Amino acid sequence: PADASAATKRVLLAAPRGYCAGVDRAVVTVEKALELYGPPVYVRKEIVHNKHVVRTLERRGAIFVEETDEVPEGARVIFSAHGVSPAVHQEAARLSLRTIDATCPLVTKVHREAVRFAGDDYDILLVGHEGHEEVEGTAGEAPEHITVVESPDHVDAVEVRDPDKVVWLSQTTLSVDETMETVRRLREKFPNLQDPPSDDICYATQNRQVAVKQMATDCDLMIVVGSQNSSNSKRLVEVALEYGSRDGHLVDYADEIDEAWLEGVRTVGVTSGASVPEVLVRDVLDWLADRGFEDVQAVTAAEESVLFALPTDIRRDLKAAG
Ligand code: F3S
Repeated sequence: PADASAATKRVLLAAPRGYCAGVDRAVVTVEKALELYGPPVYVRKEIVHNKHVVRTLERRGAIFVEETDEVPEGARVIFSAHGVSPAVHQEAARLSLRTIDATCPLVTKVHREAVRFAGDDYDILLVGHEGHEEVEGTAGEAPEHITVVESPDHVDAVEVRDPDKVVWLSQTTLSVDETMETVRRLREKFPNLQDPPSDDICYATQNRQVAVKQMATDCDLMIVVGSQNSSNSKRLVEVALEYGSRDGHLVDYADEIDEAWLEGVRTVGVTSGASVPEVLVRDVLDWLADRGFEDVQAVTAAEESVLFALPTDIRRDLKAAG
């Protein structure tokens, strides 16, 4: 029946969800910088791709800019979790900016791989979304050696100098399944394609997708909390639909949920992207509880204990400040 009684309504709540270690580190970096140095603190690009986080930090005195040349000479600027290309570091040095690099260490790892394979004169096929900040940063490490491959459909058009000297790397926040399909097609074309030394799609992206896969078949509706420009959040909606959830939506805030989505729905899945503070998930759970979805069951796919140390400058200055 369309009006399922409250007793049969339930929420499946994914774990892990929300903040990853890289996002936590980046957000705390801005908070600590504001405490240590006082506002304004400039941040190049959104520190992480979440509207709420950016707005909150703005209120505390962070100023978000698109490009380094918008920062006044000599000021302090933080680079976002997605990483920057060497050209951005050079530009910052030219403007005598004091930089704090909040690039996620797992993104930096991919940069290092790119530098190493480019140094060995490989053609590097970077699986990722053209125009995404992370891809711009990674590709900027070795522009002459890197070709971005967006999806399986783009494989046909890929050309390399030497098919026996090709390696693939990837953006950290992709769909695992789609990436494997892209790589399968690349390998058909280049049988000697080399794999990255370790997974480039990060643990957090992978775990959040595994949890969604576990619950998707049981869900009539999947609500993913996250922003439209958040790659890993968007992938969670796609994965949910692919694995059997009848419907799925990405929302920044609970008030974006449309009552009409609940029609005939008994089981709602809830998760959140790696850049999403837990308070926004709580708001969604409250919103659902108000509509009879009070029974919340956790679906736990993995335990996470990754933690990254803050950038060196911040650690040093925190210590000095006592
Ligand atoms: Fe880093 Fe993965 Fe988070 S690359 S910022 S741990 S989504």
